[in-house]
Amino acid sequence: MLESRGNWSTKAGFILAASGSAIGLGNIWKFPYITGDYGGGAFVLVYLICVAVIGLPLMISELIVGRRSQKNAVTAFEKLHRENSPWKIVGWLGVASGFIILSFYSVVAGWALAYIFKAIVGFSGTAEQITGQFGGLAGNASDSVMWHTLFMGMTIAIVIGGVKGGLERWSKILMPSLFIILFGLMTYGLFFTNGGMQAVSFLFKPDFSKLTSEAILSAMGHAFFTLSLGMGAMITYGSYLKTQEGILKDAIIISFLDTLIALMAGIAIFSLVFHYGMEPGQSVGLIFKTLPVLFAETGRWISVPFFILLTFAALTSAISILEVVVAYFIDEKHWSRKKATLLLGGIIYLVGILSAVGKWTVPFRGSDQGFLDIFDYISTNYMLPIGGFLTCLYVAYVVDEKIKQSEFGSSGALYMTLSILLRFVTPVAVFIVILNGLDLLPFVE
Ligand code: TRP
Repeated sequence: MLESRGNWSTKAGFILAASGSAIGLGNIWKFPYITGDYGGGAFVLVYLICVAVIGLPLMISELIVGRRSQKNAVTAFEKLHRENSPWKIVGWLGVASGFIILSFYSVVAGWALAYIFKAIVGFSGTAEQITGQFGGLAGNASDSVMWHTLFMGMTIAIVIGGVKGGLERWSKILMPSLFIILFGLMTYGLFFTNGGMQAVSFLFKPDFSKLTSEAILSAMGHAFFTLSLGMGAMITYGSYLKTQEGILKDAIIISFLDTLIALMAGIAIFSLVFHYGMEPGQSVGLIFKTLPVLFAETGRWISVPFFILLTFAALTSAISILEVVVAYFIDEKHWSRKKATLLLGGIIYLVGILSAVGKWTVPFRGSDQGFLDIFDYISTNYMLPIGGFLTCLYVAYVVDEKIKQSEFGSSGALYMTLSILLRFVTPVAVFIVILNGLDLLPFVE
């Protein structure tokens, strides 16, 4: 007998799960550090514009494709076009992206998990000793693999639980906890450190002289990653929706919450950075090197919640990536959920070992690089934007006008705006990101 595909039990459950997918390492680890690197306010402003102009229309598109088709990310493309439609290649690209993204995502999330325990022990010693701990973890293959194993195991366990009993149930627990912890940390940063006001002005006062064209393009790429767009995650989550109204509202709420969490994380982190007179541009090391140095001053009651928060956020994102892959094999190959999750999760876990063992490098773009960086680079800069670009064209030019209008719920001015964005604005903007990834733009350094 076929297992039923599963559904969200409530609208709120869907919103929490989809926000859980969007809110992840992208918000709490990546957003603050790239904002720091690109100089603050002006970068944030461009990122906000990208969320509105690229992110929101694409989120609506993916949700429409998913909800209408009631299918996984591959079959959905056939369902709204025709049997054996070539557009299903876009879905396969998404499934392939899922394998790659989750494999390295789980390694970084494993570090977050490891840092919960480091925080419980406490950060102490000189700044070099504390920052050195990160190299000690990331550079130690067996430690990294062990934490990756643990995190991937948690992800697999939740996905085996299914849509209601796994994805929705855990998002309902983890997301509100995450919000409370982050609210506490932000309040602490704003009112109990001397860096709060400086953090706010760093994030919200644009200094356009710092805005390079590369920063603009990075802001666009990040909008994809942080909103979980371009690989069918929102198609898959949308396909478990039954209700017939409110896609615009849902997409706005999810994008808003995602953006809010990123900004709150930015305030919490930069308050500490400025309080202790550090430089905001610390790159990848901001969370795992700079913050622990500051945490040595603040103590465990800030650091332990922070890494728990980071792990929760990563977990509700990781399950959404695995679900994209699993849903395809359940729908199309008629595998049981348990078999699909264990087998595919297992393969992704094995691929992840390439990233966990930091010492293994291969020549890539002119230097020897580790798999983690290469996988992150290829998926974020090529696979997601290409997937998003094609999804956008598919919805704009292939999907029947009547289907779109009925899913969107109106044919008025808002719908016209969406149509124009999808036809002309969003794909052009995304195309620029892709060209940038390929170094084909003359005006980008
Ligand atoms: N959005 C998540 C984050 O910010 C990561 C993520 C989850 C993702 N699902 C995705 C990224 C699908 C791209 C595609 O951490």
